[in-house]
Amino acid sequence: MCVEKSRLRCLQAPIVAQERVAEGIFELRFAAPRLSHSLPGQFIHLLCGDSFLRRPFSIHRAEGEEITILYRLQGAGTNWLSRQREGGLLNVLGPLGSSFASPRENERILLVGGGMGIAPLAFYAERHSHFPTEMIAMAGFRSASQVAGLQPFHRARVPLSLYSDDGSSGERNRVTAGLSERISEFGANRILACGPEEMMKSISAIAEKMNLPCQVSLERKMACGTGLCLGCIVPVGNSENYRRVCVDGPVFDAREIRWS
Ligand SMILES: Cc1cc2nc3c(=O)[nH]c(=O)nc-3n(C[C@H](O)[C@H](O)[C@H](O)COP(=O)(O)OP(=O)(O)OC[C@H]3O[C@@H](n4cnc5c(N)ncnc54)[C@H](O)[C@@H]3O)c2cc1C
Ligand code: FES
Repeated sequence: MCVEKSRLRCLQAPIVAQERVAEGIFELRFAAPRLSHSLPGQFIHLLCGDSFLRRPFSIHRAEGEEITILYRLQGAGTNWLSRQREGGLLNVLGPLGSSFASPRENERILLVGGGMGIAPLAFYAERHSHFPTEMIAMAGFRSASQVAGLQPFHRARVPLSLYSDDGSSGERNRVTAGLSERISEFGANRILACGPEEMMKSISAIAEKMNLPCQVSLERKMACGTGLCLGCIVPVGNSENYRRVCVDGPVFDAREIRWS
């Protein structure tokens, strides 16, 4: 069933193109002019085949009438998705969730992504490329065969440093290894991060130590995606408080999260 709330749309969107862009990683474009108001950090919820539960994916690009997502093969849902071809219809709910705060004039923003976490940050870089702000990006992948989703940074002329676990692409290190130095060299006054939870926890600790605002985009398994089932909660604050990743997030102020 399709529901429609104010700016939230449920639609049948025709696939424009699907391409394998790295090992087990695909870029999928579909036509959805009614989602053109989507913001960096927001996500869509896709029905994948006959599965009852939708699957969430960050918006990687919203340009003209088209939306792009970047995804890694994981299980049944993403495998089904990878078999869909141009002209096929996708059942899409979105845009959902919160977005990264827009840049302020003369801000210096450091974007840090790990794996598929690069998807919403690349959207941010491209969407705000004409704004008078300085951005640089750090991206970490397991190996060169997994590197994907970087074109938007190049189009936006955002300088990018690459890291990989095995040294096959960029520096052999974690993105977090030289982060404090990079923050100081660049003079960053805000950090945006998306990737594995351990990475975001480390970035959050570094940002707090350096007294820098930091926003993180969190992932949780989701069911409804619209705030009703409480299946995606994360602990916040220093008591028994929780927030829902699907509607209160996925983008949160890093200081708000009670990291485990
Ligand atoms: C906000 C957000 C943005 C994301 N963006 C991206 C992205 O840009 N690119 C990317 O590659 N991945 C992204 N992900 C992760 C992506 O959603 C998963 O990789 C995808 O859902 C895997 O689906 P699957 O069926 O292929 O894999 P599986 O691991 O098989 O699927 C997950 C399984 O868990 C089950 N499940 C789902 N939710 C629940 C639940 N609440 N309780 C119990 N079982 C459940 C499903 O039914 C399914 O069987 C994002 C996740 C979130 C939350
Ligand atoms: S997925 Fe149902 S409340 Fe978030």
